[in-house]
Amino acid sequence: MNTKLTEIYEAIRRFPTAESIGLGEPETVSMELFRFVTKHVPVGTDMRILDLGCGLGRSSAPFVDYLSNGGGHLVGVDVVERMTAFCSEVIGSRYSNASFYACSVPDSYLFEQQRNNPTILPPIEKILARHEPFDLVMAFSVFTHLLPEEMDAYFSLFNHILKPDGRLVLTFLFLDEWTRPKIRNRALPSMISRDTPNPMPEPGRVCFSSPSNPRAVVAIAIDDVLAMVKAHGFQPEQIHFGSWRAMPSETFQDALVLQREHTIPADFDPKRYLALHEDVARSGIDPAQHYLIWGKKERRPYK
Ligand SMILES: C[S@@+](CC[C@H](N)C(=O)[O-])C[C@H]1O[C@@H](n2cnc3c(N)ncnc32)[C@H](O)[C@@H]1O
Repeated sequence: MNTKLTEIYEAIRRFPTAESIGLGEPETVSMELFRFVTKHVPVGTDMRILDLGCGLGRSSAPFVDYLSNGGGHLVGVDVVERMTAFCSEVIGSRYSNASFYACSVPDSYLFEQQRNNPTILPPIEKILARHEPFDLVMAFSVFTHLLPEEMDAYFSLFNHILKPDGRLVLTFLFLDEWTRPKIRNRALPSMISRDTPNPMPEPGRVCFSSPSNPRAVVAIAIDDVLAMVKAHGFQPEQIHFGSWRAMPSETFQDALVLQREHTIPADFDPKRYLALHEDVARSGIDPAQHYLIWGKKERRPYK
C-alpha cells in the first residue's frame, strides 16, 4: 500500500459519519471492490472510469491510483456536496487524474440528503456531457438507494455516456427465490431485515428496509432489473451473488456486470437449446437469456 492511499483511508476513517457510506472497514472494502472489478472486467491503466455515487471515495481511491500509471482518469459524482468536496480535497489533491463533482439528479430521484441541502447543484447530465465517454461505469451500494423509476433513468443516462464496448458494474440487493423467504424470516445479516416493521410484509417486486424512508435500503426483483436492462439495450455479462445472502462470496451485495446487448445469433433455436442442455431446461431460465449470459461464454451449441 503506497503512502497516498494510506493517507486517503486514514482521512475517510476520520470523516464524521463515515459509517453512513456503508458497512465495513474502508480500506478492506475498497480493496475488495478493486480486486472484484479487476478480476472480472478488463481494466486498463489508460481507461476512463465513472464512479457514480462515489461517497467518500472509498471505491474511487484504488482505481485512481491504478489509472495514474497509464494516463487514465476517474470521474466521481455524488448528490452530497460535502462528500465530493472531501474527495477533491483528499484524493484530487494527491492525484491529478481524478475529478469529483456534486450533481443533482432529476426530481424523482432526489436523495434525501440532497433534498435538505440548500445548494443548487448542476444536473448530472451537464457534468458528464463535459467528459469523453467512459470505458467503465461503476456504482457500488448506490442502486440499493434508488426507486425502480430512478434506476430506469440512470440506464438511459448510461446509454449516452458509455463507450460502445464499455461496461457497467452495479451492485444490488436482488429479490429472488433464495432471498425472499430469508427476508420474510429475517434470516439475513442486517440490511433489508434490520429496520422493517414486525410482522415483515411479504417481499414483492420491491422491498424497503424502512417504509417511512424508502431509499434507506432498497431490494428489487432480479427479473425486473434484467427486463429494465434489456429495454435499454444492455445485456448481463455476469451476475455474482453477494454474501448478504448468507453464503460465501467476493462482495457483500449482488453485482451485475453489463455490456451493450449482443444480439442472439439469427439461427439460434430455443427449443433445440433446451433439448441440448437439460440443466437449462430444468432451471426454467429463458433459453436466449441463458445463452447470452452463460451459454455463449461456455461455447454451448445452440442449433
Ligand atoms: C452507501 S454509499 C456508497 C458510496 C461508495 N460508492 C462506496 O462504495 O463507498 C451510497 C452513495 O450513493 C449516493 N447516492 C444516493 N442516491 C444517489 C443518486 N440518485 N445518484 C447518485 N448518487 C447517489 C449517496 O450520496 C452515497 O454517497
